[in-house]
Amino acid sequence: MLVSAKEMLDKAKAGHYAVGQFNINNLEWTKAVLTTAQELNSPVILGVSEGAGKYMTGYKTVAAMVKAMIEELNITVPVALHLDHGSYEGCLKCVEAGFSSIMFDGSHYPIQENIDKTKELVALAHKNGMSIEAEVGSIGGEEDGVIGKGECADPNECKSIADLGIDMLAAGIGNIHGKYPDNWEGLSFETLDAIQQLTGEMPLVLHGGTGIPEDQIKKAISLGVSKINVNTECQLSFAAATREYVEAGKDLEGKGFDPRKLLLPGTEAIKATVKEKMELFGSVGQA
Ligand code: 13P
Repeated sequence: MLVSAKEMLDKAKAGHYAVGQFNINNLEWTKAVLTTAQELNSPVILGVSEGAGKYMTGYKTVAAMVKAMIEELNITVPVALHLDHGSYEGCLKCVEAGFSSIMFDGSHYPIQENIDKTKELVALAHKNGMSIEAEVGSIGGEEDGVIGKGECADPNECKSIADLGIDMLAAGIGNIHGKYPDNWEGLSFETLDAIQQLTGEMPLVLHGGTGIPEDQIKKAISLGVSKINVNTECQLSFAAATREYVEAGKDLEGKGFDPRKLLLPGTEAIKATVKEKMELFGSVGQA
């Protein structure tokens, strides 16, 4: 069932668990995430970055594929189709393409500009029954060529953005996209706590879910994080399983080169990673 992310995240915040956002790249990814969510009776958010949207030939293709797959596979758990780190123009395109949720990442703009643009998009998203995520304080690391340095957001700026009527707030708390370096200092719970104190009921979003130790994930959830984004970890699982298949020469045995066989171990590996995360985030059985 394609829905906005609002209700599932409000429920998660009240129930002290988090809903996973798993970024998709193609049909196998989408199928792996949707079927795992259904098997575990968990709500789920499919994240689509602008780069992945382009790779899949455009947002309309993505929306059509996701909607059809939900129907063909009888997916009854709540599913949100969400633009990840969208530009202003990207948000407009996803509203038109039929996504159910958007993220406007205005974190690189001066705060007033971020506020003004977010405000406009809140009105547009809500008019179309969609949920909207905003960002304050850039998330570190590299994603689709955008490099952030992993700063901690200013809690007062978070409050100004939260007051615009957004449905979820991504705030930098020392998290970064991709693998964490050995000298990473960990999440700033002091910042997270201060943000939650000021923003109250607002579901908070933790980007860069790959590689954050379990105890830090649990603590972040206890301090108001209700959505956790995971991208790189599924890519690593997919790549490792595919490598193993090819290195074992299985693509050369019989019809092992058939894409339905060649891509199967990677798809199963994505499913295993998604299951592990849903169990850790506490969303299993919450659909
Ligand atoms: P990772 O790639 O580090 O899991 O981050 C995903 C993310 O935050 C997408 O917005």
